[in-house]
Amino acid sequence: MQPEHYDAWYASRRGAWIGGIECRLLEALLAPRGGETLLDVGCGTGYFTRRLAQAMHAGFATGTDIDCASVRYAARHDPGAAYALADARRLPFADKSFDLVVSVTALCFVEEAQTALSEMLRVARRRVALGLLNRHSLLWLEKGRHGGHGAYRGARWHTPADVRNLFSGYPVREVSLRTAVMLPGGGVVARALEGSLRRLAPACGAFIAAAADVR
Ligand SMILES: C[S@@+](CC[C@H](N)C(=O)[O-])C[C@H]1O[C@@H](n2cnc3c(N)ncnc32)[C@H](O)[C@@H]1O
Repeated sequence: MQPEHYDAWYASRRGAWIGGIECRLLEALLAPRGGETLLDVGCGTGYFTRRLAQAMHAGFATGTDIDCASVRYAARHDPGAAYALADARRLPFADKSFDLVVSVTALCFVEEAQTALSEMLRVARRRVALGLLNRHSLLWLEKGRHGGHGAYRGARWHTPADVRNLFSGYPVREVSLRTAVMLPGGGVVARALEGSLRRLAPACGAFIAAAADVR
């Protein structure tokens, strides 16, 4: 998909609602302290890099992606941050280069997600957060089965337990995990029920966000 088309989805009514929810959840889990540096791995068009950096009052933001066109698009639309071409499985940064490291629905497209997470933990100084797709969600029933449809084709869907397992064996403290986007249609009913459904079935949102402190 062209970066322009991908980014335009976030400007649609449904995309803006979903993007906003995901961004707020990641920000809450990252618990930023203001002025911290941020790395966004698999940043795509830089939507979350831009939004998180702004919401967190980040000191400086960097985004990396394996797709050249996306990196060029992100750099054009966010001159205040640095964007670079890089494979999540081999990040071109020294150990502990960034206070906060995030990756949003990118590791579900990386064959060796575990290697990518270990790279994120290596370059992080304080906290790491992942956004992933929930196998225990209505969105999976709609878009994830049989190899996935549209933008979800080829994605790996994790259960909350899978996500906790991804972190196991690493020097991290207290993995916090939350889900959101309970009814992914994004219409009036979805918006009205999001809060109540999150309380009723907290592990069933389409978007899983997990974060942990790096030791
Ligand atoms: C669904 S998009 C998410 C983009 C962005 N994080 C967002 O949420 O808008 C997945 C992204 O992962 C990137 N990606 C896939 N494999 C990667 C790898 N090995 N290293 C870095 N990025 C990768 C793709 O190029 C794509 O931009």
